[in-house]
Amino acid sequence: MGFLICACLLQLLFLGSSPAAAQSPSPARALDAMLQDYAYRAFVRPHTGIVYNGTVPADLAGVAVSGLRLRSGSLRRKGFSDYFEFSFPPGVIVQPYVERVVLVYHNLGELSEKYYPLPGYTYLSPILGLLVYDAANLSAVGLSELSIVASGSPISVSFSNVRAVPSGSPAPQCVWFDLDGVPQFRGLEANNVCATYRRGHFSIVVNSSDVAPAPGPSGAIAPLIPTDGGRNKGSSDAWKIAVGVVGGVIALGLLALLLVCFVRYKREKKMEVMERNAEVGETLRMAQVGRSQAPVALGTRTKPVIESEYVA
Ligand SMILES: *[C@@H]1O[C@H](CO)[C@@H](O)[C@H](O)[C@H]1NC(C)=O
Ligand SMILES: *[C@@H]1O[C@H](CO)[C@@H](O)[C@H](O)[C@H]1NC(C)=O
Ligand SMILES: *[C@@H]1O[C@H](CO)[C@@H](O)[C@H](O)[C@H]1NC(C)=O
Repeated sequence: MGFLICACLLQLLFLGSSPAAAQSPSPARALDAMLQDYAYRAFVRPHTGIVYNGTVPADLAGVAVSGLRLRSGSLRRKGFSDYFEFSFPPGVIVQPYVERVVLVYHNLGELSEKYYPLPGYTYLSPILGLLVYDAANLSAVGLSELSIVASGSPISVSFSNVRAVPSGSPAPQCVWFDLDGVPQFRGLEANNVCATYRRGHFSIVVNSSDVAPAPGPSGAIAPLIPTDGGRNKGSSDAWKIAVGVVGGVIALGLLALLLVCFVRYKREKKMEVMERNAEVGETLRMAQVGRSQAPVALGTRTKPVIESEYVA
């Protein structure tokens, strides 16, 4: 009984803590996984070298996703020009090597800011994504991304429909996000053209911050309480500290409980396994004894019935 409560609590705590933990993917990574699925669903008896547009559900309206299946060897030797805004020169190598790849194209449209918020900057173009997956199983979901390296000249991204730079702004820049979501900036290659040697998400931005938004003060206990945009600082500080202390105490208590539960759970699990092993051993032994008798018993039971029925 106590064990059951403990197990429930344990599960609750793990479930409850998982969204905050590092294991849960960011919204952008969750979107990558979804779009991989939608791109692969577009492949019905696909030909290599042909672009297939995926369809997305209503909550992703405005997002475009497409898939292009290529042989890695062909990509390396010949490249591929005009995959929407992307152009691959010869020399693009897939790592680790697989025979065929799917190049998945994203255009996040109006949802660019939502999935790739970039305070202090203004997007002049939607975020475009280029991710690479193994094409071996076209019904696979949750695939992990492959890397690509442009070993010769870079892959070019020629943005279309770039908004005009707001007057008085500094020069626009290319921004590149790898899978970790960390932005990296570099200059444009040409008007509306960015260059990349790798996969990821790309856009053109301008620095729009005359006043850089200061990061909020973060105490040691800040992660435990949801951070609120503090308006009236003076009165809310004492309140914050009180909540922090209470939260800390509760968290400590829960942690201790969790530890106790975990130890008990482990012990219980071990006992269970030992018991099950003992049971399995027993049933096996019984089955062995039974099997030597079974044919005799079955034969004598069924035969007379069938024969008498056919004769009658
Ligand atoms: C795929 O979508 C693009 C626009 O996003 C369009 O230009 C192209 O014609 C579509 N291709 C197919 C095969 O429907
Ligand atoms: C392909 O992936 C699907 C979904 O993950 C899986 O059920 C199926 O067994 C896979 N097929 C092969 C041939 O690996
Ligand atoms: C934007 O430009 C301003 C002034 O040139 C600079 O101080 C600031 O650090 C830049 N902001 C970002 C986020 O790079």
